[in-house]
Amino acid sequence: MQDRSSNQEPIHVAIVGSGPSGFYAAEALLRSGRNLRVDMIERLPTPFGLVRSGVAPDHPKLKQSILVYDRISRNDGFNFLGNVMVGRDISVSELQSTHHAVIFACGAKNDRRMGIPGEDLIGSHTATEFVGWYNGHPDFRDRKFDLDQDVAVIIGHGNVAADVCRILAKPIDELRKTDIAEHAVDALANSRVKEIHVAGRRGPVQAKFTPKELRELGSISGAIATVDPNERTIGEQCEIELAAPMNSAAVKNLDLFRGFEDIKHAGTPRKITFRFCLSPTSIHGEDCVEGLTLTRNVLDGPAFSQTARSTDTLEELHCGLVFRSIGYRGEPVEGVPFDAARGVIPHDRGRVVESNRPVPGLYVTGWLKRGPSGIIGTNRADSIETTESLLADYNDLDAAPKPGFNGLRALLDERNVRIVDIKDWHEIDAAEIERGKTSGKPREKFTRVEDMLDLLSGHNRTTSSVAV
Ligand SMILES: Cc1cc2nc3c(=O)[nH]c(=O)nc-3n(C[C@H](O)[C@H](O)[C@H](O)COP(=O)(O)OP(=O)(O)OC[C@H]3O[C@@H](n4cnc5c(N)ncnc54)[C@H](O)[C@@H]3O)c2cc1C
Ligand SMILES: NC(=O)c1ccc[n+]([C@@H]2O[C@H](COP(=O)([O-])OP(=O)(O)OC[C@H]3O[C@@H](n4cnc5c(N)ncnc54)[C@H](OP(=O)(O)O)[C@@H]3O)[C@@H](O)[C@H]2O)c1
Repeated sequence: MQDRSSNQEPIHVAIVGSGPSGFYAAEALLRSGRNLRVDMIERLPTPFGLVRSGVAPDHPKLKQSILVYDRISRNDGFNFLGNVMVGRDISVSELQSTHHAVIFACGAKNDRRMGIPGEDLIGSHTATEFVGWYNGHPDFRDRKFDLDQDVAVIIGHGNVAADVCRILAKPIDELRKTDIAEHAVDALANSRVKEIHVAGRRGPVQAKFTPKELRELGSISGAIATVDPNERTIGEQCEIELAAPMNSAAVKNLDLFRGFEDIKHAGTPRKITFRFCLSPTSIHGEDCVEGLTLTRNVLDGPAFSQTARSTDTLEELHCGLVFRSIGYRGEPVEGVPFDAARGVIPHDRGRVVESNRPVPGLYVTGWLKRGPSGIIGTNRADSIETTESLLADYNDLDAAPKPGFNGLRALLDERNVRIVDIKDWHEIDAAEIERGKTSGKPREKFTRVEDMLDLLSGHNRTTSSVAV
């Protein structure tokens, strides 16, 4: 076998996706000391995945990982190719012809479906749409949300549900100075939403909020958070869960929910009500959402495996807006094995597998690898595992020299794809920061791809792209 360490030709690795998992994979590869180049391909002209388009605007500290990604992007041997979509502008087999290895770090952009009647009625939205809209993601910037409604229901007890609830409940003046998209500020400033129900299918002990996020929902100025003590039933198996040493978050959450029980609605403009053990069975209304039917659940099974079993008890809830926040699913990439049941690419320690055998040169990381769970930092360990597998395969990768960035760029040039490179991104970044200054915001995002490309249109792409 050829030992690549004595080979002058570098290994070319393409990373598809520029979210946390993509950047942590790039970092691990570039730190490895091996002779390799990394080309990061991103469908948007802007990098950073959900750190830019998911993390809530009123949580700026959580976006600081961008500083780390920016440092990684300044490494020799790293190229950013924004505005390039794998599956649209370039195929996986073409990438395999230009690169020795491809790491898929595409995240999990689709929503899980509830599979109930009325799910697609006007006024029933996914959290993804709402989050993308307020964060200025180009795919969602033209979505409309009828904020003239008094009552909104959020389905799900996870941190994304908490984000959606906070953005609906917070006074607009607390959002104005964030990097929230301008169109969202305009709409939210006129919001008439007064009552927000946050409904989980299981109980308070199983809620997936982190205590910090839950506590924040109880301290929004002009809003109260409440819980009906009759709904907060804690069974024997829940007590076992609470007693487990690694479950301190559930204990803290329960304390917070208990604290919310005593709070009375004393004329505050907005009220958040946590509901437990309820699953929607239908969303109804003539032309748009007018209400929900929910079934009351009981918990079934042993501690830590308790599931929601529906009963015959139904409840009607009048509302004009529904946000489904029940998790995400990865999307298949053409030509790559996919586990449709789990919405992930099947893998063995990051090596893409088909019929239990590794597919040479293909790797996966992040939400597309392990599913839609974990905070930004979780992706670092995940990407280290994937790159360790890739580096272990280093000597076995296709021995033929490959053109890497230059070959990829030639293919994209033939198709007139306007590559947004890292210098272009710096220009978009600087323009956004400048645009934010007039309104005291850290940035005013461009929310249309055309506007970003127009900004760059005076530039000759081939001179601003750096070939290595
Ligand atoms: C609404 C929301 C809020 C969150 N808030 C927080 C938070 O406050 N703190 C925290 O720690 N974690 C938070 N998380 C979790 C965190 O964002 C994820 O753990 C992390 O972003 C997953 O990283 P990833 O790289 O796998 O995917 P992503 O961040 O989704 O990145 C995937 C990237 O791949 C690109 N892509 C997809 N398909 C293609 C293609 N075919 N060609 C080219 N590019 C492609 C996408 O455009 C995207 O940029 C949040 C998640 C969500 C959904
Ligand atoms: N500030 C932050 O740190 C932050 C912010 C946002 C997101 N994140 C992270 O991003 C990840 C994704 O967050 P998420 O909120 O989308 O997912 P999540 O934490 O998995 O929560 C999903 C919620 O949806 C419920 N659910 C799933 N399927 C359902 C169904 N068919 N019917 C009714 N309810 C259903 C789940 O209930 P069950 O428990 O019963 O399955 C759970 O309450 C998490 O790891 C989260 O911590 C972090």
